Parts: sequence; C-alpha cells; structure tokens
Amino acid sequence: MSTWIRLFAVASMFIVVLLSGETSTVLAKPTEKTSFGKTPDGQNVDLYTLANKNGMQVAITNFGGIVVRIKTADRQGKTDDVVLGYDSLDGYVNDTAYFGAVIGRYGNRIALGKFTLDGATYTLARNNGENSLHGGIKGFNKAVWQAREVAAKDGPSVELTHTSKDGEEGYPGNLSVKVVYTLTDRNELKIDYSATTDKKTVLNLTNHSYFNLNPGGSDVLQHVLMIQADKFTPVDAGLIPTGELRSVAGTRFDFRKPTAIGARIDQDDEQLKLGKGYDHNFVLNDKGREVELAARVVEPTTGRVLEVLTSEPGVQFYSGNFLDGSARGKGGKMYGRRSAFCLETQHFPDSPNHPKFPSTELKPGEKYHTTTIYRFSKQ
Ligand code: GLA
Repeated sequence: MSTWIRLFAVASMFIVVLLSGETSTVLAKPTEKTSFGKTPDGQNVDLYTLANKNGMQVAITNFGGIVVRIKTADRQGKTDDVVLGYDSLDGYVNDTAYFGAVIGRYGNRIALGKFTLDGATYTLARNNGENSLHGGIKGFNKAVWQAREVAAKDGPSVELTHTSKDGEEGYPGNLSVKVVYTLTDRNELKIDYSATTDKKTVLNLTNHSYFNLNPGGSDVLQHVLMIQADKFTPVDAGLIPTGELRSVAGTRFDFRKPTAIGARIDQDDEQLKLGKGYDHNFVLNDKGREVELAARVVEPTTGRVLEVLTSEPGVQFYSGNFLDGSARGKGGKMYGRRSAFCLETQHFPDSPNHPKFPSTELKPGEKYHTTTIYRFSKQ
C-alpha cells in the first residue's frame, strides 16, 4: 500500500469517528480492564469496559458498582454517552446524587431510620432528614467491591461481590451480595442481583443510573415515558409512602399511555409538590413476577428508546428534581434540575414498616435474586 493510500485510510477513519461522535477507541477484546485510580484510603479501583458486536459500550467501576458510561447510537448512528456521571474516581467519591451506583442495603427511604423484625427494633443511620436513604451514610455506592470478568453466555460480563458486616449502618446480618452486569448483543445492560444473609434482615437493591437519551439537549422534559402501572404509592412530606396504593387513573401519575415527562410535571398537584416533581414509586402491574417490561422511554429528537424490564414489583420514577447544577460532571458539565431521569427498579420504599407491601425480608438459607434489564434501541 502506498503512503498516500495509507494516509487516506487513516484520515477517513478519523472522519468516520468524528461524524459518529464516538470518542472512545474500539476495544480489542469484549472486556477491557483499566485502572480508575485510588480511593482516598489507598484502595485501587478499576474500570471495566464491556463492548458488544453492535458497538455499544458500557463502563463499570468496582467503586460502588457504578455504571460510569453507556454509549449507544441514535437513529442517525451517532454514538453518545446517555448516563450522567464524572470523568474520574474523585467525582464518584464525593458524589451525593448516587450517579450510576448500586444502592444497598435498602433502595430509597426507611421512615425514621427504624424497623422491627421478630420483635427486635433496628435503628439505622439517618442521612435524609429524620429518615434513612439509600443504605445510610456509607451505602454500597461507596464500597470497593471485588470484581472479576466472567464468561456469561449472553455477552461480556463483570461480577461484583461485596460483604456487608452484621450491624453495618444499623442493618442486621452478615450479608454477601453479588451483582453481575452483562452487556448482551441485543443492546441490553442486564443486572443480576443476588444475596444471602446469616441473620434475618431486610434488603432492597437497585441501580441509580441517571439517563438523558439526548445528552446534547438540556432537560428530559421532552422524553416520552410509559410505565406499566395502574397504581402508585403517594408520599408524605418526608417522601415516605403513606401506605395507600392509589389508582393513577385521572391523575398526573398515569403513564400507561406514553406521555412526555414534562407534560404535567409543574401542574398544581399535591403529590408533585411534595416530590418537587416525580419522585414516586409505581406499583408495576403483576404479570407473574417474570422479568417483564416495566417502562419505556422514547426521546423524539434522537430516536433513542430505553426499555426497562424487571422482576421487581416497583419502580421509582425520579425526574432529577434535586439536581441543581452544583455537581461538575463529565467534561465539566453542570447537571441542572431535571437534566436526567431515573427508573430505579425495586421493592417499595419503607416496606419494612408496611406489612401490606411486598416483603423485603431475607432469612438465612434463602437466596435473594432479582433481575433488571435496561434495553436500548432506536426508532
Ligand atoms: C431517589 C430518591 C430521591 C433522591 C434521589 C437521589 O430517587 O427517591 O428523593 O434521594 O434518589 O438524589
């Protein structure tokens, strides 16, 4: 090959990369492990980048089990990172928004940081006014997990394990937790959570990724959302469920027909005022607790589609109301109010204090296992 042909080939590759908006290099292997730095207490942390045959990439760090990047194509084939986060480990160490993290032991709030199991009252670390939120002061989002690449049959996979000691943040039982992230060739990020305990406890694991399917745009109010839920759990001023399962019919919480997130968000509504927007658990229609479609989001400008499938009975739809531009994210970007949404698949908030909600108890000898899939496509 002459030098000119070679130069032409290299130049056109650059042009393709520029046009596609793809900033990452093509991976030589389906999983690439690189250093992501050191925590303030000197622990080494890695970044695992998974790639599938369609060019989709997902990067996961074993600090907090955090999903750092999800790169997917829009309808033009332009690839972008559709999750909020930081450029380096420091950002995640100091983060207060839970960007991309595994949440444990308990996703969302437990009222007054208290619950009773078999007559014993447990007092949790309170980190959200008088309540305990997302596992307490040092939740699973701040733990360094053990990580290894595993050969899953449906795609490149990374397995994270963590042991939470009896009494940690006030929760009973030594708990062994495993989270497996798999990127399939169907453009799905599949998350399998499992756990065992040596003492009766409560557990509610989720992932707190913040999505914006049009990262070049501003907020997510134009994203069109569908949630397969006939009911939701209204909250009090502390965002604790009142215990009622309220029908969404005729309310601003009816997303059974696809509706823009922003269509009703600022309307005069007691529940929207309490949440400062959407920050509510939706009761998924029970189809037998298989991994079922829970929600679908379509972004009209880019044509990106996100489907959320889960075995969980609920999903917390959070419209990023507390984002206030104070966190300096990827590329120095300030993430403003409602610049992303979360669909946190889970059991209902404060279930340990609501015997009528599906139980979050885990006993010795039992195996906790839930699956959630974030599936990407375009239209
Ligand atoms: C969840 C909660 C919100 C908020 C975010 C994190 O979605 O329900 O109230 O705490 O996490 O900021």
